[in-house]
Amino acid sequence: MKYTAIFRVWHWLNAIVILGLVGTVLLRKGFLSWRTNSEIIMTKLSDMGVEIFKEDAVAIAKAIRAPMWEWHIILGYALAFLVVYRIALFFFDKSQKEDFASLDLHKKGVKVSYYILYAVIIFMTISGFAMYLKEELALADATVKSIKELHELVYNYFLIFIPLHIAGVVVADIREEHGLISTMINGRTKDKF
Ligand code: HEM
Ligand code: HEM
Repeated sequence: MKYTAIFRVWHWLNAIVILGLVGTVLLRKGFLSWRTNSEIIMTKLSDMGVEIFKEDAVAIAKAIRAPMWEWHIILGYALAFLVVYRIALFFFDKSQKEDFASLDLHKKGVKVSYYILYAVIIFMTISGFAMYLKEELALADATVKSIKELHELVYNYFLIFIPLHIAGVVVADIREEHGLISTMINGRTKDKF
């Protein structure tokens, strides 16, 4: 057994939750952007002979976005749970992973990309909750603003990691590591196929 069942379950739940979180961000900046939608609201109302203030159009656009963004927080709680789950795996899981020193340069690079990812996930969880609980934590506005800038900057790591990771495991599975993707599904070591 290369990956234990509890490790595989963690991997796929984590993949779903992170793709979901990134999805909410893409919607916030894309189809549900208040900038674009407030313009649409103003132009359409104007065509209908109704003039409204820019601030009102922005308020409507943000109200349309709000129920979607609730999912960022819901998935945020799920991510916090997955961080605790992964820490527990670190201490108790019996998945068989190669020793870092025994790996070739490419595999070392892959491992390093996972270590950075773990640090990034922990940072996103802490900074996300710090913003969400800014009142309870009595954080100054300037502090929240800096946290938000960092949260948004670090977000870019996912935009690099996710396509590279998915393309990487597909290419490795086709070339020399046949069955790599199914080991993350069925847990068997590759030589038992
Ligand atoms: C949806 C398509 C995905 C597929 C097919 C996939 C597949 C895999 C496979 C085969 C491995 C083992 C690779 C190895 O041994 O180096 C792996 C590891 C890993 N994947 Fe994914 N993955 C997917 C999505 C994701 C996403 C979205 C994330 C999070 C952003 C993620 C996070 C990880 C992490 C952290 C590991 C390393 C686990 C460890 O050894 O500590 N994966 N994935
Ligand atoms: C994979 C993890 C995460 C990613 C990729 C992510 C990404 C982002 C991005 C890019 C923004 C800025 C959006 C914008 O202003 O255009 C943001 C804002 C925010 N995120 Fe996250 N986030 C993650 C985890 C979390 C978690 C765990 C929480 C905790 C509940 C959280 C709470 C928030 C809050 C409160 C905001 C500010 C929203 C606002 O100013 O209205 N995030 N996130």
